[in-house]
Amino acid sequence: MSELPAPSPQAQQLSAALSDAIREEITAAGGSIPFSRYMELCLYTPGLGYYSAGQRKFGAGGDFVTAPEISPLFGRCLANACRVVLESLQGGDILEFGAGSGQLAIDLLGELQRTACLPGRYLILERSAELRQRQQQALQRELPQLLDRVLWIDTLPEDGFRGVMLANEVLDAMAVERFQWDGKAAGLFHVGAGGDTFEWRLQPSRDETGVAVESLAASCQLSPGYISELNVALPAWLQSVAAPLQQGVMLLIDYGYPRHEYYHPQHSSGTLMCHYRQRAHDDPFLWPGLQDITAHVDFTAVAEAALAADLEVSGYTTQACFLLDCGLDGLLQQAGPTDSTHYMQLAQQAKTLILPGEMGERFKCIALTRGMTTTVPGFGLQDYRNRL
Ligand SMILES: C[S@@+](CC[C@H](N)C(=O)[O-])C[C@H]1O[C@@H](n2cnc3c(N)ncnc32)[C@H](O)[C@@H]1O
Repeated sequence: MSELPAPSPQAQQLSAALSDAIREEITAAGGSIPFSRYMELCLYTPGLGYYSAGQRKFGAGGDFVTAPEISPLFGRCLANACRVVLESLQGGDILEFGAGSGQLAIDLLGELQRTACLPGRYLILERSAELRQRQQQALQRELPQLLDRVLWIDTLPEDGFRGVMLANEVLDAMAVERFQWDGKAAGLFHVGAGGDTFEWRLQPSRDETGVAVESLAASCQLSPGYISELNVALPAWLQSVAAPLQQGVMLLIDYGYPRHEYYHPQHSSGTLMCHYRQRAHDDPFLWPGLQDITAHVDFTAVAEAALAADLEVSGYTTQACFLLDCGLDGLLQQAGPTDSTHYMQLAQQAKTLILPGEMGERFKCIALTRGMTTTVPGFGLQDYRNRL
């Protein structure tokens, strides 16, 4: 990893403090902690974790770029989908999980205001206090006239939520377990302390996670030595966020695959990825707290968890098809041709969002609904639910 740029001395201090805290927890646990716990600490330890400390994460000057940071067209397309849902419900709220820099909220609300279809409230549930503050500053700067509708919440809303729930690149930021299948049984990767750094410790897994891996190994015919990840927290998370939804849709957008592609022989080392200053690599022990750690999303698991939570799976498609069906073309045309420079910029951004070699096919969108009688936009071009 010597080719990666070195962090500033101040950032290195933060990373050292987080590493000390993780080492203490490892010692207290008797020598190792599950990888999911290590990932959780790296991303969310208050004041020190990647999402909880102050460094710039999103956008060109950060570690990675998400769709709302690439183009306002992303939020405007989502606004088109929200409008159809809000109109069919004759009102309602929007709840965004993990709002990052706040850019999606700004673009989406701006477009809904322009088309006179604002939600009653725009709720944001963000687990990072630092990001919440950034979001507040960004919305104050960009949309002061709508700030009274935006509410940051610490817990899920009361029962009876009607409207749209959104999460862009939130599932990939949830802590996962990492396992190895040896042909007969599952081993779970733990993290131990080795000198100055951390190291993998493979342990037999006879608990629920081990049983889940055995079942995966049988259904996906995993070969001995196969390594991958499992988001064991997903069913409980989906159950909890689905509970207050009385009527409406949950749109989840992320990079991932249906299960048979996720656990395909081609992915025999898993999907764990780290992002540091626009570079992707696979070493989660590098600079704890200073880099993002993610895993792809198993959308079959999302669909199963949704059904268990009494939601309907109403659509599943690629980001490209979703955005095009939500009117990307029309939004682009609105921008041109009077201002050709602006139009060219937006056209370039649209390509990044939809081209297969960029985000278009790697990212997927799934719609989970309850009590909806209107078709949710986004899935009219291609609906790949049969692949889940
Ligand atoms: C990869 S960032 C994506 C940010 C933003 N949605 C975007 O597209 O630019 C992940 C975000 O999810 C938040 N997050 C992770 N787990 C969460 C959870 N369980 N509830 C709410 N926010 C969460 C993180 O703090 C962060 O804001």
